Amino acid sequence: MTTLALIGLGNMGKGLARRLAGKIDLLISTRDLATAEAFVASLPGGRAKALSTDAAMAGADIVVLAMPYAKALAAAANPALAGKIVVDMSNPITPDFANLLLGFDTSAAETIQAAAPEAKVVKAYNTIFAALLDQPVSQTQSLPVFLAGNDAGALAAVADLVVLSGFAAEATGGLETSRLLEPLGLLNIKFGYALGQGTTIAPAWVRLPA
Ligand SMILES: NC(=O)c1ccc[n+]([C@@H]2O[C@H](COP(=O)([O-])OP(=O)(O)OC[C@H]3O[C@@H](n4cnc5c(N)ncnc54)[C@H](OP(=O)(O)O)[C@@H]3O)[C@@H](O)[C@H]2O)c1
Repeated sequence: MTTLALIGLGNMGKGLARRLAGKIDLLISTRDLATAEAFVASLPGGRAKALSTDAAMAGADIVVLAMPYAKALAAAANPALAGKIVVDMSNPITPDFANLLLGFDTSAAETIQAAAPEAKVVKAYNTIFAALLDQPVSQTQSLPVFLAGNDAGALAAVADLVVLSGFAAEATGGLETSRLLEPLGLLNIKFGYALGQGTTIAPAWVRLPA
C-alpha cells in the first residue's frame, strides 16, 4: 500500500492533504512540527500522521515537495529521498510573478532531479491553482494534471495519486518536458492574476470534433 509524504503545509500542501485525507496513508511535515500536528488533528479519516521532514521522507513511497522552488531544491538534497518517487509541483518564478527563474536548457524539475539523483522525480500539479483543491471533486475531475518524468513506474504511481486527488492525469513526456510545463504554469498565473481571470482556472487542450 502506498504511503505519501507531504512536505510543506502552505496552500498546496493543505489542499492536497484535505483532498487525500482518509484515502491514503499521509505523513505530513512542515518546518514546525506543532503546526503539522494541529493540521493533522483537523483532518478526517484517521490516516494522517505529523512527523519531522526526515521521518516523513523516510517512511513514504511518494514524497510531494509542496514548497517554493528554492526550498524544494534544498530539500531534494535529503538522502532520505534515495529510491523514492518525488513530486515536484514548483513554478520557479520571480517574486513579482513576471518571469521564470530558469528554462530553455533546464527546468526546476530537472534541477531537483540533479539534487536527488537516486530519486525518481515527477513533475505534477504545477498548473493547478491551490483554489481548485477547495472545489468539489466533481468540478475538477476532468481537469488535467500534466505529468513529466523519466521512470514509467513513478509516472504510473503519480497518475494514480492525481486521480485519487480528484483530477485527470495527462502524461506529457520525459522530465525535460518540464521546460514546457513550467512556462505553462507561469502563463496560468498570468491569466489568473495579471489578466484578472482568478484562480479557479486551469489549462487544458481542446479537441474540435472531426
Ligand atoms: N499556490 C498555488 O496555487 C500553486 C499552484 C501550483 C503550483 N504551486 C507551487 O507549489 C509549491 C507550494 O506552493 P504554496 O503556494 O503551497 O506555497 P506556500 O503557501 O508558500 O507554502 C509553502 C510551505 O512550505 C513550508 N516549508 C518551507 N520550507 C520548508 C522546509 N524546508 N521543510 C518543510 N516545509 C517547508 C512552509 O512552511 P513555513 O510556513 O514554516 O515557511 C509552508 O508551509 C510552490 O513551489 C509553488 O510554485 C503553487
